[in-house]
Amino acid sequence: MRKKISIIGAGFVGSTTAHWLAAKELGDIVLLDIVEGVPQGKALDLYEAAPVEGYDVRVIGTNDYADTANSDVIVVTSGAPRKPGMSREDLIKVNADITRDCISKAAPLSPNAFIIMVNNPLDAMTYLAAEVSGFPKERVMGQAGVLDAARYRTFIAMEAGVSVEDVQAMLMGGHGDEMVPLPRFSTIGGIPVTHFIAPERLAQIIERTRKGGGEIVNLLKTGSAYYAPAASTALMVEAILKDKKRVVPVAAYLTGQYGLNDMYFGVPVVLGAGGVEKIIELPLNEEEMALLNASAKAVRSTLETLKSL
Ligand code: LAC
Repeated sequence: MRKKISIIGAGFVGSTTAHWLAAKELGDIVLLDIVEGVPQGKALDLYEAAPVEGYDVRVIGTNDYADTANSDVIVVTSGAPRKPGMSREDLIKVNADITRDCISKAAPLSPNAFIIMVNNPLDAMTYLAAEVSGFPKERVMGQAGVLDAARYRTFIAMEAGVSVEDVQAMLMGGHGDEMVPLPRFSTIGGIPVTHFIAPERLAQIIERTRKGGGEIVNLLKTGSAYYAPAASTALMVEAILKDKKRVVPVAAYLTGQYGLNDMYFGVPVVLGAGGVEKIIELPLNEEEMALLNASAKAVRSTLETLKSL
């Protein structure tokens, strides 16, 4: 049977995710938004590109959650983006209301679906989606680490003057400016990244990665990034639907790993047909653990705000 992927939110991230998913022919796509006409128009436009590009998937746009029924994957991109000067945490009130609304409508219609959250503040919105859906935690996850690691990999490739294809890098923590890129777990063609880039430059690249989302917000002025977030989301959908067992950082539910409990947080996982099939526990050193704990503290504080709303 053909797979069905519903994307809630037909803004830039949602519609660009639909584009990548269609191009990869991963399944039929439903694009839903509360704005009338926009999801229908974008979906029809994307569907009309199918004969040219040769992807054989159906793309429909809707304002009605009934059309999302029996989805295999639900991607939630709806919510306000940041404006210059705002942190992801500033979005919590408005995006928590939106998340509650869309999960409570979409989840009961697709009880076996995987949920991938993409709205901010990411780790807290994923926690909320798990709570509202009541789904098993391995089927609810947040997209952030793939994007943040992609930014880190891009900056490493730019600095070293090598192909992005050969840069592998792990990055952990919350999707905030305290995220933790891990040079000890980053390589170029299997060779430690430190062989190519001096420590001071690497430190600058790490700082740029942490502020990578803000860099795009400051450039665009009227919204936040969407190409790389959407591509990263499509990678996760593909890993699940094709049971690829990708090893990527994902906001996953922690039950004691890294000394953290009852929170969603970016950690390396094995992502396949079972969703988050395994959380990988890296042997972090003291310095890395301290950075991870600082990031966890920031996520924990956002969660407290969420719970107090
Ligand atoms: C970013 C936003 C989408 O990192 O969180 O670009």
